Amino acid sequence: MKALPPFISRSDLRQNPIERAETVPSAWYTEPGMKVIERVAIFEREWQLAGHISEIPEPGDSLCKTIAGNPVLIIRDPAGEVRAFFNVCKHRGGPVEVKKGTTTVLQCMYHGWTYLTDGSLRGVPQWDRVDLFDKKDFGLTPVPMEIWQGLIFVNVGDSPEPFMSVVDGISERIAPVRLDSLKFHSKETYHIGCNWKVYADNYLEGYHIPIVHPELAKLLDYRNYTTEAAGHYSLQYSPFQSSDSDNLYGAEDGEAYYYFIYPNIMLNILPGRLQTNVILPVDENRCVVEFYYYYTDPESPGAKKLIADDKAYSEMIQQEDIEICETVQRGLHSKAYNKGRFSVERELGVYHFQSCIKNSLRRHFGL
Ligand code: FES
Ligand SMILES: [Fe+2]
Repeated sequence: MKALPPFISRSDLRQNPIERAETVPSAWYTEPGMKVIERVAIFEREWQLAGHISEIPEPGDSLCKTIAGNPVLIIRDPAGEVRAFFNVCKHRGGPVEVKKGTTTVLQCMYHGWTYLTDGSLRGVPQWDRVDLFDKKDFGLTPVPMEIWQGLIFVNVGDSPEPFMSVVDGISERIAPVRLDSLKFHSKETYHIGCNWKVYADNYLEGYHIPIVHPELAKLLDYRNYTTEAAGHYSLQYSPFQSSDSDNLYGAEDGEAYYYFIYPNIMLNILPGRLQTNVILPVDENRCVVEFYYYYTDPESPGAKKLIADDKAYSEMIQQEDIEICETVQRGLHSKAYNKGRFSVERELGVYHFQSCIKNSLRRHFGL
């Protein structure tokens, strides 16, 4: 068992039923030391969303991501296969890119070593007289990767758990919707002055909708808004009718699924549209949230207005959420607050998320 830091007590790691449970203590949102613990205990262990296949449609297309502090390169190779590597050159740690004008060669942007798209080292300039050097020992290190519903997940941990256990049941639930047929449209990045868990907590409940999002409250059937939680994810679900939602999505009657995949991935699924959100911790008081928008046919003339409306609406809701999250972060720093309680009816998602955090910490500290 590892020693617990002063801001994590054994009793705070205990799980109680939601009816009796307290929220996690405010120190977990305000202590600088939580960041390193969470990186090892959570972000290096869990599968992370890195993109969608439509972002790299052609051989030689690539994505550069930072996953739990690790640079990762995802490429589509000449045969059309998607591959992922730690984006760290084996010479002295430089960044690798697809070499200009090629689809088959990766080149380090420091001293120019070249690799093939299977990661093997190919070219080493000005390397005469170097002894005891075998190129075979200096290939790029692959990163475990899975493609599910067109979404690319990677895991930088040493022993990833099977990916399918993470998303078990989602495909069946959203059928006939398929996310792999959608196409990337755009990305928005938000720099937010709150701990990453404040943003997650806020996403995970509709309890705040009537107060924080009065416009959304008018359009949503709040009574039929339900939350389910199991395993690695929770689901907030709401049926909607086009008459209610004209301003909201311009979509037909259908179903809205808001999946939260632990620890930091949100899949907001509506007919013909997927919006993914990924929360990236920066420090105890800051996070970055990336929104990616995907649509069935983003280039069609009819889609343009629908997409513009959808994005404008998301932006409005997001600004309301940012304001409350930043205010809550200041509240968590107050000496007047430590732990709260949960609405059994409305905060199952938050309770589930915080239970997952406790599980990760217990495992990390060997409890
Ligand atoms: S670090 Fe890549 S070639 Fe030197
Ligand atoms: Fe909100």
